[in-house]
Amino acid sequence: MNREFTCFLLLILTATAQAVVPGVQRDDAVELPKIAGAYTLAVKDEQCRVQAHDAAGAFYADQTLQQLRREHNGQLPEGLRVTDYPRYEWRGLHVDVSRHFFDMAVLRRMVNTMAALKLNRLHLHLTDGPGWRLEIKSYPRLTSVGAWRKKLGPGPHEWADFRIGPDFPEIYGGFYTQEQMREFIAYARERHVMVVPEIDLPGHAFATLVAYPHFRLPQFTLAETQCGRDILNVEHPEVIQFAKRVLDELMAIFPEDTPIHLGGDEVDTTLLSREQQRKFIQMLVDYLAAHGRRAITWDEAAENGVRGQWVMLWRPDKLQMALETGLPLILCPLSHFYFDYPQSESPGEPGAPNTFVISPQKVHSYTPPLAPQVLGIQANLWSEQIDSAERLFYMAFPRAAVMAEHAWGSPRRPLNNILLDWQQLLKRWPIAR
Ligand code: ACM
Repeated sequence: MNREFTCFLLLILTATAQAVVPGVQRDDAVELPKIAGAYTLAVKDEQCRVQAHDAAGAFYADQTLQQLRREHNGQLPEGLRVTDYPRYEWRGLHVDVSRHFFDMAVLRRMVNTMAALKLNRLHLHLTDGPGWRLEIKSYPRLTSVGAWRKKLGPGPHEWADFRIGPDFPEIYGGFYTQEQMREFIAYARERHVMVVPEIDLPGHAFATLVAYPHFRLPQFTLAETQCGRDILNVEHPEVIQFAKRVLDELMAIFPEDTPIHLGGDEVDTTLLSREQQRKFIQMLVDYLAAHGRRAITWDEAAENGVRGQWVMLWRPDKLQMALETGLPLILCPLSHFYFDYPQSESPGEPGAPNTFVISPQKVHSYTPPLAPQVLGIQANLWSEQIDSAERLFYMAFPRAAVMAEHAWGSPRRPLNNILLDWQQLLKRWPIAR
């Protein structure tokens, strides 16, 4: 494990060790709480004692120990006693690899960085209108056609005019083979990061429709399906078959404990009624459940009446609705955790157009609702305007370091401390820039 990685963990640890969670004084706690990733660490008479219930806890403790030794010239600070554990089981980061493609080397860097921040879920938005990014053997055109597009010119794009297909003189794109994905899942797992796949259904499907045009809504030509009309015709029996075959392959690639995200967002209800959407997504949630698998959807599906899944809440005004469903929630409200939005008002600051500033201060000001059904929080990196690895990391950090504080520990830690830690990490380990 590399040096800077463990150094940073101590910085987080130091902060969380000081944190006060209702009813628990972490730095004085004796008992190791039965929480995944929890550990205790005690140094006495030059001996170190670590306790953990699971491999994640041992992983975090081990990193901390290595760091302590380095920070103290090979010694451990006498008398140190820490009980450390996460607030949420889901500490997520989402990367949209459809609008722009990021190869496995970039994703591995992202996982390394996440592990340093104790983030543990990497949600990959694998499909959307501008590209399908995972090999599906039963539908090869998804990637032979749908993973490629005409290269876009420089500058911001409205995403109204991209062209899908492999036959342009200048093409852009890429996809992950199943073998690459399996290797990556294992790599991430060693760092206690679960890779969570999303196949966005039934909307955001332009790449799918160019590959398989007969899946489109019958009232539109293929050309007319761009811009929000790129919706699968859920009444077509082959579309149902298609979705199930794709899920079969996902279930074979991703380990059993990994939920599968079905999307379900932003489908025009005048084109596909709420009931049509509900029936389709519910069938897929149930299909996964019948195979012992958990589904996730965006909050629209919950609003449409789908049940049995975990819900990712991105529209802040839907929180009450989502709470009332009683479904487990992962919160990624666009008000605080859409990291494709600009992070400052500086002229030239990159970010999605027609949005607002989400500064590190704003992320820090977030107050997670104290509801037992909240599994965790997540930040989302939509990549319409993120066309390089450098830009991806620029948009992600340091905001994700601030979000990680909410996810793991205490929001009371001053923002400046978090930012200073991030700078120290970067100096020692130039992951991001
Ligand atoms: C979303 O931003 N459409 C989930």
